[in-house]
Amino acid sequence: AGPIGIVAAMPGEIDALLGAMRSQRAVESHIIGQREFYSGELFGRRCVVVLAGIGKVAAAITATTMLLTFNPSALVFVGVAGGIAHDIAVGDVVVADTVLQHDLDASPLFPRFEVPMLGVSRFASSPVLSDALAAAAKRFLGGIGNGRLHRGLVISGDQFVASAGHVRTLRDDLPDAIAVEMEGAAIGQVCDAFDRPFAVLRIISDAADGEAGNDFPRFLEDYASGYSLGIVREFLSG
Ligand code: ADE
Repeated sequence: AGPIGIVAAMPGEIDALLGAMRSQRAVESHIIGQREFYSGELFGRRCVVVLAGIGKVAAAITATTMLLTFNPSALVFVGVAGGIAHDIAVGDVVVADTVLQHDLDASPLFPRFEVPMLGVSRFASSPVLSDALAAAAKRFLGGIGNGRLHRGLVISGDQFVASAGHVRTLRDDLPDAIAVEMEGAAIGQVCDAFDRPFAVLRIISDAADGEAGNDFPRFLEDYASGYSLGIVREFLSG
């Protein structure tokens, strides 16, 4: 089997994972398509770790390059998201069962949200990987004594959502969406094209409302890297 591909959204997360990787064994680095891929061993498993950059195109470039160059057996995306379900709070963790591009609309040629010519709007993550990630997140959250785990639809778009009005629109259009971010559904579409299993784990950094512009950087600075490292450690060693 190939390595596990780990795609992170933010430099802080990559740094924490790389620090852990370096302390365990030599790490090789390859720059391809302006991205630096780090391959080595992390908590006893062969992994390739990369920083994707922000947005669906950046994620698609990264995922495609990862799949074609390193032939990973699966891709796991770890990052933060805005919570949009009513019962979700900052510090909760979301594992996607399905992902969808909420800014994709080629109507009237194709139904809204449907990927043209593919005939689907939602990509399903790997149940096995997602169950393992969810279990890892539960162990981590149990350890810190804070936060709940949610499973469901995670939606992606090339927009930072930062108003209550925008959240209401998303809820009206996609009532079962639980969190919004900017990369997961691109990873889903790439992995569908290459028939490779994927999973998306997101820590809730903000409520995608008028406070998101403050909450997001604060969460990143204080918590994101500790959460990602802690959950990835539970996932890889569990
Ligand atoms: N990632 C984290 N918070 C987000 C938000 N409010 N909108 C889009 N992506 C996010």
